[in-house]
Amino acid sequence: MKITVIGAGNVGATTAHRLVDMELANEVVLVDVAEGIPQGKALDIYESTPVHGVDVKIIGTNSYEETASSDIVVITAGLPRKPGMSRDDLLFMNAEIVKSVTEQAATKSPNAILIVVSNPLDVMTYAAMKVSLFPRERVIGMAGVLDTARFRTFIAMELKVSVKDVTAFVLGGHGDSMVPLPRYSSVAGVPLPELLSKEVIDRLVKRTAGGGGEIVNYLKTGSAYYAPSAAVAQMVESIVRDKKQILPCSVWLTGEYGLSGVVVGIPVKLGKRGVEQIVPIELTAEESAALAKSAEDVKLNIAKLKY
Ligand code: NAI
Ligand code: 2OP
Repeated sequence: MKITVIGAGNVGATTAHRLVDMELANEVVLVDVAEGIPQGKALDIYESTPVHGVDVKIIGTNSYEETASSDIVVITAGLPRKPGMSRDDLLFMNAEIVKSVTEQAATKSPNAILIVVSNPLDVMTYAAMKVSLFPRERVIGMAGVLDTARFRTFIAMELKVSVKDVTAFVLGGHGDSMVPLPRYSSVAGVPLPELLSKEVIDRLVKRTAGGGGEIVNYLKTGSAYYAPSAAVAQMVESIVRDKKQILPCSVWLTGEYGLSGVVVGIPVKLGKRGVEQIVPIELTAEESAALAKSAEDVKLNIAKLKY
């Protein structure tokens, strides 16, 4: 198993570190345009492996030669948000970057599964699919796992229970119109609406939708990376170990959930072939409308790309 992580910034380097610690590959390649950064960070991570007792080789590079024949390519290259910026403000700058790195990575690893992280997430996943010409099963956007983890954390904080007992689902685009689903969220199997008032649930839903911005406002110079890299690692693990976990991921839809011509977050089964199934769940009219609105927001941005 060989995994390439493109972008050796906060999310990329932290992801590479997690993949090595979890021994999810024999070889990890960290790529960035910044000279010295991927080399230095990769060596630093490599030097942690004797302490952790993991046998994973990791190298850093500025070229794609070393990425050849990767099984999974994680794309984190791009600019992060600064305070006051929405994810959509990153659209044009990051589209050029994602296009360029996808072209180079896909040429070297034509059978890889791409996991896209760069923002605005759903549109960048679309861009990577268009440029790579890979089937939708092998181009997967990471956002739903992160948004769901945030929702689960806020529920656990509110009810003072273990995060392990909290399950939840957040669907839709990775933006202000994402769709947390309280009805499908539960604590030790008890549905959330039986545990919390609508008022409190609405507050947690709002905090989840603004979860990325909350971290940006604290950090000032960048955006979240610990929870995002944990989310990527969970997706990679489900693929590498063929766990077939049902996780909310952003994928190209062709009629599922009544949506087509758009990349948006919905529950999928992740295994060694990538997206092995798009899992249908029943939505109320209100939930469907919220998902459709979120998909419409993504579509407007896809149209701006003009490809
Ligand atoms: P960062 O600024 O720490 O790292 C980005 C890295 O990309 C930098 O090292 C930069 O040199 C590199 N880069 C830029 N152009 C490149 C190119 N052409 N080829 C290779 N590398 C290139 O940013 P961070 O915090 O790591 O975030 C990365 C991206 O992930 C951002 O777009 C951010 O908004 C997004 N993000 C998405 C999340 C999600 O849920 N989908 C969560 C967190 C971040
Ligand atoms: C996040 O949600 C910025 O999209 C990134 O943290």
